[in-house]
Amino acid sequence: MASLSDFVDLSSKPLLWSAASIAFNPIFWNIVARAEYRNHFMTRIFGGEYNGCYVLAFTIFSLGIVRDHFYQVALDDQPFYAPMHQPIIGAGLFAAGSILVLSSMWALGVTGTYLGDYFGILMDAPVTGFPFNVTGSPMYWGSTLNFLGVALYKGKVAGLLLTAQVFVLYWFALKWEDPFTAEIYAKREREQAKKKGGKKQ
Ligand SMILES: *[C@@H]1O[C@H](CO)[C@@H](O)[C@H](O)[C@H]1NC(C)=O
Repeated sequence: MASLSDFVDLSSKPLLWSAASIAFNPIFWNIVARAEYRNHFMTRIFGGEYNGCYVLAFTIFSLGIVRDHFYQVALDDQPFYAPMHQPIIGAGLFAAGSILVLSSMWALGVTGTYLGDYFGILMDAPVTGFPFNVTGSPMYWGSTLNFLGVALYKGKVAGLLLTAQVFVLYWFALKWEDPFTAEIYAKREREQAKKKGGKKQ
């Protein structure tokens, strides 16, 4: 009779490391970004909001590479499940996810991608072209597709579990981040409206 351990090895250490790094990254960048917004500690330490944002960007990018590495190692340590081995679909999803991630980085730039709004580096106008006309959060959903693509490419059920973890975390991250950044921009609108009103009188 088949048991769960034929599909997933839950006792695998690399699996734990992968799950931990998937959870750590969005929690880390949200804590750092909110602290920066409140007291501008990175702007002060690194001598300017752009420097601070570039340091955070580099840190988040590096943490992402570590996380992706842990994911690969974790899946290689897992049992293979033939029905889930769908390399063509997996490669297609990975390509689609990469297009979403890379095109949104291209559209937003470094500061737009890596929480520049928390440093006071606001964009002039919301980006509405591709890939933002496909989804409001191409970075998150593209990254989720990448995880799913690798899971199918390698035929590993544990990859599906970790992908579900990514999905849930990003979903919560969006619920937490979107209203906050919306308020940052709303605040600028109010200040600009006040300035304009002042000039007219
Ligand atoms: C999004 O915009 C791109 C380029 O402007 C366009 O080619 C594409 O059809 C649009 N997609 C949707 C779903 O509207």
